[in-house]
This record gives sequence, C-alpha cells and structure tokens, in this order.
Amino acid sequence: MHIHLRLEEEKDFRTVENLTREAFWNVYKPGCDEHFLLHQMRRSADFIPELDFVAEMNGEVVGNIAYTRARVVGEDGTEKPVICFGPLSVLPAYQHKGIGSRLVEHTCAVARTMGFKAVLIFGNPAYYRRFGFKNAKCFQICTADGKNFDAFMAKELYEGSLQGISGRFLDSGVFKVDQEQCELFDGQFPPKEKLVTDTQLKEEDFQ
Ligand SMILES: CC(C)(COP(=O)(O)OP(=O)(O)OC[C@H]1O[C@@H](n2cnc3c(N)ncnc32)[C@H](O)[C@@H]1OP(=O)(O)O)[C@@H](O)C(=O)NCCC(=O)NCCS
Repeated sequence: MHIHLRLEEEKDFRTVENLTREAFWNVYKPGCDEHFLLHQMRRSADFIPELDFVAEMNGEVVGNIAYTRARVVGEDGTEKPVICFGPLSVLPAYQHKGIGSRLVEHTCAVARTMGFKAVLIFGNPAYYRRFGFKNAKCFQICTADGKNFDAFMAKELYEGSLQGISGRFLDSGVFKVDQEQCELFDGQFPPKEKLVTDTQLKEEDFQ
C-alpha cells in the first residue's frame, strides 16, 4: 500500500472539498460545514498553501490537511504566531490505513522547517496524543474565552518552542461559517441525508 503526499493544486479543489464532505458528513453534527470551510479558507490571508497537502493512493486523492495562521495573545497584549490545522480528512473507505497519521507527521515536519513553533488544534485527544499533542493547559494557553478542555491541544514543533508563549489562543476569523452560504455551497454536491448519530459531539466536550 503506497501513500503519496503532495501539495494540493487548483485542479484538486472540488475533489478535496468532496472528500472532506464525505469524511465529515454526520460525524460531528447532522451534515457538515467543513467542505465549505475549506473552500473559504483557501481564499483567506491566513491560509498556508505550503502546508496544504493531499494524500494519494493509486493516483486517487483520498486525504487532505489544511493549515491556517493563528496567534496566542499574552496578558501584556503581545501576540505570538502559531498555526492550526483542520479540516483533516480521509475518505471513509481509506481510513485506518495510516493516511491521517502521514498527513499530520509530514506537515508538522514541513511546518518546523518553515520556522513555525507550534500547532494548536481542537480534536480528539485519543487520536492526536500519538503525535505529541498535549492539553493546551500544559503550556498555559487557553481558548479566546478563557477555557481549557481535553479537545483543545497544543504541540511544540521542537523542544521548548512554546516557552514564553502563553495566553489566549485566537484562531483565524475564517472559521466563522455563514450557515446560509454553507447550505448554498452544499447544494453543488450530490444530495446526502443529514442524520443525528451517536458520534456527534456534545456541548460538554467543549467545556
Ligand atoms: C481522523 C481521520 C483524519 C484519521 O485518518 P486515518 O487515516 O483513519 O488515521 P490513521 O489511519 O492514521 O489512524 C487511525 C487509526 O488507524 C490506526 N492505524 C494507523 N496506521 C495503520 C495501518 N497502517 N493499518 C491499520 N491501522 C492503522 C491508528 O492506530 C488509529 O487507530 P485508533 O483506532 O486507535 O485511532 C479520519 O478518520 C477522518 O477523516 N475522520 C473524519 C473527519 C475528522 O474527524 N477529522 C478530524 C477532525 S479533528
């Protein structure tokens, strides 16, 4: 099984949006927003094209990871740049084959060579701990509204790289999704049924 990673190109955009939709559909809520989020993210000044990788198997694009610039604002108001990934998507039929791991590990290595210090994410700790992500609280970093919870995690891209970086995490404004625009965008894809499932996150996961 050969997994090939390469940068996303414009010709991949719709394929990658569709695979993102397939990966996230009904997983965290009925339907999903992540394909629209990715679509608007690519046009944002915070988007980092050098870290926008796709995974191919047998010439088919089956996975993607996308990063944006974010910052940690200290008590004295100083801002330190960090980065954030998501959506991270692997087509359901290709999950559990190590593709997601390859995308995370490879892009973290590239990000380090680009001079970035740390990655902050909201995700499932059971999955992300293996890559060295820790509760952001370990680095005295909290969310914009002063919270910490298991799903809010940080990874140093080299030892001690988060030293002197603490405060509130402010992600890119691009994560705000207009539901009406998202619905319109979703209409360009094949119809899919929105369902309530037991994998969907509850409010207490983010408190
Ligand atoms: C999360 C996601 C990107 C992971 O991608 P993936 O390619 O399935 O991830 P991996 O294969 O690297 O790891 C998944 C599991 O497969 C196992 N695995 C890794 N390499 C493997 C291999 N070569 N063979 C079999 N299993 C493998 C991992 O140990 C892991 O096991 P787990 O069940 O204990 O977690 C994918 O499931 C997805 O797109 N999910 C929906 C969207 C989503 O939730 N995105 C992340 C938002 S935070």
